[in-house]
Amino acid sequence: MAAERVDVTSRPDGSVVIRPHGHVNADVTGELRHALVEVIRHTRPARLVLDLADVEELDPLNLGVLAAACLLGDDQQVLVFVDHCSTRLADELVAAGVSRGRLRHVHGPSLVRDARRLAQTLLAGLPERWRHTAGVAARADEVALPGEADAAALVAAAWLHDIGYADRVRETGFHPLDGALHLRALGWPDRVACLVAHHSEAVCVAEVRGLAGRLAEFPREDSAVADALTYADQTVGPNGLVLEFDERLADMLRRHGPDSPNARANPRRAPLLRAAVGRVESRRHAAA
Ligand SMILES: [Fe+2]
Repeated sequence: MAAERVDVTSRPDGSVVIRPHGHVNADVTGELRHALVEVIRHTRPARLVLDLADVEELDPLNLGVLAAACLLGDDQQVLVFVDHCSTRLADELVAAGVSRGRLRHVHGPSLVRDARRLAQTLLAGLPERWRHTAGVAARADEVALPGEADAAALVAAAWLHDIGYADRVRETGFHPLDGALHLRALGWPDRVACLVAHHSEAVCVAEVRGLAGRLAEFPREDSAVADALTYADQTVGPNGLVLEFDERLADMLRRHGPDSPNARANPRRAPLLRAAVGRVESRRHAAA
């Protein structure tokens, strides 16, 4: 049996999220249409969110299915929104009859631009952190992932990965978690918040700090995008310049000190970081 390619979940506020994955073509139409009709006609939530964050391609037939679902929602008093589509997909949806007012968190160049602006504002009082962040974003951009959505999510997350160090973002004192909580509160795409939460194998340090449960609120993405974010962070030093991974690791351990959570997490974390860096280097060599 084929794996399901349309997830349906409910949120605590009573809204329902339908999330198709990958290439949404004729093979997925039946499953997508069934999920939409079931939710709109039978569940009838106040809000239905069509979350397209994981969609790589949506064929004309399914563009029509989504446009029809918006109209069916109007008919059944279910407010339908479309979240996290790329600028290209947004234009295609509008051409298929979806009103622009339904589209939220459209990504592409604007996602990256907005991420840079937010990081610049939050890190204004932390010049070294800002230099590092700008270096990590440039390094992420170099990795040049082929998919538009993946590339935008990666570079946006790179700009945002250390915002948790900003005083006004600080909540638990663990910067990957604080950054993710802040992004979620601001309504940023879940994918970007989750990438920030888990950047550079944050879970290893979260366990040492007793924060693994909180971090688990953000599902971990195991992907080339997550690897590339870790690679970018682990090959750029505090001054924003590129460093070899081993130099970066040694510098981090020196700065944080031998009794720090980072040092205690290191035996488990360092091999995972090294493996992620290795995977990205292999992909880059293979693509060169
Ligand atoms: Fe960083």
